[in-house]
Amino acid sequence: MSIHLISKANIAEHLTIDVPPSDSPLKPSSVRIRSSLLSLTSNNLSYALLGTYMHWWDTCPVPLTLPPPYNNPSDYGIVPAWGLATVLDSTIPSLTPGTILWGFWPTGSHAFDLTLTPAELPGHYKEVSAHRKDVLPLYNRYRVFDTQGNDLSTFGWDAAVGTIFVAGYLLAEYMFTPDPASHPAIHPSEPGALEWKASDADLSKSIFVSLGASTKTARSTAFNFFARSPGTEPLGLLQFTSSVDALSEAAAKGSPNFAVGTLPYSDVELAGKWIAGLELETKIERVVVADFGSRDGVLVGVVEDIRGNERLKGVEVVVLAVGGQQKVYSFDEIMAEQAMLASLNRVQMNTSPAYEEAIKLVGAEEFYRGVQERWNSWLENREAAAPDLRLVWGGGVAGEEGIEGCWGKLCGSKVRPEEAHVFRI
Ligand SMILES: NC(=O)c1ccc[n+]([C@@H]2O[C@H](COP(=O)([O-])OP(=O)(O)OC[C@H]3O[C@@H](n4cnc5c(N)ncnc54)[C@H](OP(=O)(O)O)[C@@H]3O)[C@@H](O)[C@H]2O)c1
Repeated sequence: MSIHLISKANIAEHLTIDVPPSDSPLKPSSVRIRSSLLSLTSNNLSYALLGTYMHWWDTCPVPLTLPPPYNNPSDYGIVPAWGLATVLDSTIPSLTPGTILWGFWPTGSHAFDLTLTPAELPGHYKEVSAHRKDVLPLYNRYRVFDTQGNDLSTFGWDAAVGTIFVAGYLLAEYMFTPDPASHPAIHPSEPGALEWKASDADLSKSIFVSLGASTKTARSTAFNFFARSPGTEPLGLLQFTSSVDALSEAAAKGSPNFAVGTLPYSDVELAGKWIAGLELETKIERVVVADFGSRDGVLVGVVEDIRGNERLKGVEVVVLAVGGQQKVYSFDEIMAEQAMLASLNRVQMNTSPAYEEAIKLVGAEEFYRGVQERWNSWLENREAAAPDLRLVWGGGVAGEEGIEGCWGKLCGSKVRPEEAHVFRI
C-alpha cells in the first residue's frame, strides 16, 4: 500500500511512499475505505496551493505511522481527489463492506477512516471527524454510489468532469439564475453575508466572457448556458482559449440562441471589438468576465480592452474570479495575483457555500435531481459538448502511469486541454 505525499513548502516536490497496514480498531459510526477510482485536474493543484489557507490538507492527514520526516503534517500533505472508494470495514450497519462511496479521497492505496453522520437524503453522509472541522462542508459530503447499469468509462467521466460540472451548474443556475421566481440568486462566494441582487444575477442584458474556456469548469458553465430556455440567456458568450476549434465545434453543436465567439489568446485585443460589433436588439449594460484559469496577463488585457472600447462606454465590467492557471504559483505570484484581482474589484467564486445554500433554498432532493438531470444530459451529449475531451486512464499511485506521474505533469503545465486523467487505484 502506498501514499502520494506532497511537500507543503513546494508542491512540485512529491514522492510515493509505502505505508504499513493499519490494524487500529475502527471507531463507532465509521467506515474504513480504500480509494478505488480517482481523477486529477488543475483543481487538485488549487487544493494543494491553497491547502493550508482553505484547510484542504486537513481532509486526509498524513498517517503518523509513516517514517520521519514524512509523518510531520507541517511539512507533508496528501492532496485529496474526487472519485470512488470501496468500504473495507464498517461500524455503520447500512454501509456494509463492498459498498462504493462517492466523495473526496486520499491519493493513496492505503486504508483510510471516515466518521460519518447521516445527511439530508438516504445514502448521503457528512464527515464529522474533529480533524476535518474546518474543511468546507462540500468536501465533507459522501454518498453511496450506484454502479448498476453504468460502465467504467461513465465512472471515469463522473470523477473527472462530473465533480467540476457542479461548479458550472451552480454558476449558471444559481449565481446567475435564469429563474429568480423559483429561488433567489446566490452570491458566488458568501451567500447570506454579501448582497447579490436579482439584477446581479440577471444576464439578459449582459455579455459573459469566459477566460480559460477549455477548463472543465468553464466547459461545464458554457454547457449549462446552452441549456437555457429562450429569454433567459446572456446576450452573448465570448470565450478565450487555446482550444479554439474544439470549443467552436461544441458551441455550434450546443445550438445556443445567443452569439458565441471563440478566440485564441493572441486576439485578446479583439474582446471589445467582438462585443461592440454584436447586432443586438437589447442594449448591453454589463460584461461579466469570468477567469477560469487563463494564462498570464489575459484577464487584465481583456478587461482593459473592453473598458477602452469607445462603443462600450458606460457598460459595467464585473470580474468573476473562479480559478487559477495550471501551474505551480510561487508565494510571490499568489500575492501578485491577489493584488491584481483586488485592483479589478473582483467577485470571488467559492463552490462550497453556494452548494450548501442551494440545498437550503430548494431542498436536497430537488437540488441533486437538477444536477443529475443536467449531468446525464452532458453524458448523453458528451461527444458534442466536448468533442476533443478524452479519458486518459492511469493506474496505481507510484510511477509515470500513476498519480505520481500525473502530479508531475500538472505541476509542469503539461496536462493538455483534451485530457481528463483518471486512475484505477
Ligand atoms: N472557485 C471555485 O469554486 C472553483 C470551482 C471549480 C474549479 N475551480 C478552479 O478552476 C480552475 C480550473 O479547474 P479545472 O479542473 O476545470 O481545470 P482543467 O480542466 O484541468 O484545466 C485545463 C485547462 O487549463 C488551461 N490552462 C491554463 N494555463 C495552462 C497551462 N500553463 N498549460 C496548460 N493548460 C493551461 C487550459 O485551458 P485554455 O487553453 O482554455 O486556457 C486547459 O484546457 C482551477 O484553478 C480550479 O481550482 C474553482
